[in-house]
Amino acid sequence: MLFISLEGGEGAGKTTQAARLVERIESTGLRCLRVREPGSTDLGAELRKLIKRSRTSDEAMSRAAELFLFAAARSELVTKVIGPQRDDPDLVVVADRYADSTVAYQGYGRGIDIETIKSINALATNALMPDLTFLLDCPPGIGISRVRGLQLQMPLDAMKDADTLNRDAEGMKFEEESEEFHQRIRQGFHDLATQEPNRWRVIDATRSIDAISDDIWNAVRDRLPVPANA
Ligand code: TYD
Repeated sequence: MLFISLEGGEGAGKTTQAARLVERIESTGLRCLRVREPGSTDLGAELRKLIKRSRTSDEAMSRAAELFLFAAARSELVTKVIGPQRDDPDLVVVADRYADSTVAYQGYGRGIDIETIKSINALATNALMPDLTFLLDCPPGIGISRVRGLQLQMPLDAMKDADTLNRDAEGMKFEEESEEFHQRIRQGFHDLATQEPNRWRVIDATRSIDAISDDIWNAVRDRLPVPANA
């Protein structure tokens, strides 16, 4: 198994890039499994609804409760979906967010101790980490305005993207946080990338969808289990 994750702040384009990457991987004849966090299992989908539901400030969940919900969803994903297939040499897993998001959001963003998060991540993932992680890096101001559909240069078809519509139905929890919150998350991802340069590739996500997707593909194709013919 080759395990790839896509990380980054709000509106960095991970979901679009995950779809492109899966298409390219499948065109080589390999089997590709796309997962998103939180989600991708029955319990994960339930937890996603709970996490993303809009709440008044009185009802806001504690930061530790939030951390445990993400960890619970991840444990289900690893135990029931990824783990059982991890010895398949022809499988490529593409994850739209994974454990690094918890370090960035609940650690750098919410202020929970980073080492505590890393040990909870290790328990939830059974120490399974991606082989390759892309940081789709974009200033929070640009990402958030993309998410809100306000940016005029955003292509119309991307604005109508199902994911954008889903966001409205789910509520806008993290998108509503302050600019400082999102700056800390960006810094968190950069720190993680610096700590493990062999695993991470930092991609400038302010560029065109095609340019980003080509950069990702160039880094992935050499790592695929069989020679890529795409
Ligand atoms: P989602 O709608 O999937 O956002 P995105 O398209 O930006 O990935 O919602 C996931 C949200 O949950 C996103 O705001 C990031 C946040 N998150 C955490 O705070 N911690 C985590 O461990 C994960 C996986 C996501």
